[in-house]
Amino acid sequence: MSGSKQTIAAEVDPDGRMELIAVGEQAGHGASVDFRRVTLRGISSQPLVRACGDRGRLLDATAGLGGDSWILAAAGFSVTAVERSPLVFRVLSDGVDRAKADSRLLAIASRIELRQANAWDVLQSSSESWATIYLDPMYPPKPGSALAPKPIRLVRDAVGDDLDSSALFLAAVAAKWDRIVVKRPHHAEPLYAEPDVVFKSKLVRYDVYVREGSSLRAFRPKANS
Ligand SMILES: C[S@@+](CC[C@H](N)C(=O)[O-])C[C@H]1O[C@@H](n2cnc3c(N)ncnc32)[C@H](O)[C@@H]1O
Repeated sequence: MSGSKQTIAAEVDPDGRMELIAVGEQAGHGASVDFRRVTLRGISSQPLVRACGDRGRLLDATAGLGGDSWILAAAGFSVTAVERSPLVFRVLSDGVDRAKADSRLLAIASRIELRQANAWDVLQSSSESWATIYLDPMYPPKPGSALAPKPIRLVRDAVGDDLDSSALFLAAVAAKWDRIVVKRPHHAEPLYAEPDVVFKSKLVRYDVYVREGSSLRAFRPKANS
């Protein structure tokens, strides 16, 4: 499970947006969600979008501040975005609500359904099936690497490391899906199993597991045991 450091709050910034902020820091210096800033030119060729495959029902099991959910919704996926941290969820849902109030963003925002939940519980539901299950759990920073951007540091301080990400992967394997996509830093091992296909971007890679002919078939009994 993740270990919260309890030093992060969700508060309203001077512009009326919810922000994730270190306790004691000046308002307006945290991380809020503003989807107007996201550049969408050429998104179909982004490795994230290509990795996630055919447009369909996509479960973003680790939504965080929703950057990836937004890109995937803009690319045409119907996204169910699940975030378990109440603090992170408040900031995310504030951003999606503001997008829904903006006529230029409404169409994309309407393709995102938010759920505050442990995705593990969502994956237990036998009545739901997914074209794609997307996982982007926290991973430990590489020693000596550049400081992560502030929003990532704030989310990390709010939720800790996602030490149960392998269990989440196995819950995904046991659910109904056509493909599972896991975002990993280049230096990290695959979350659990060797992927069928890998899409690389400059900073990260996307490990893709596909149902037909997938090496994951061998793991199914283990996942269900
Ligand atoms: C690295 S961040 C995701 C960043 C996100 N992809 C984005 O674009 O902003 C990981 C997030 O997943 C959430 N998370 C991890 N395990 C989860 C689970 N089992 N259920 C729901 N949320 C989870 C964490 O609380 C954290 O906010």
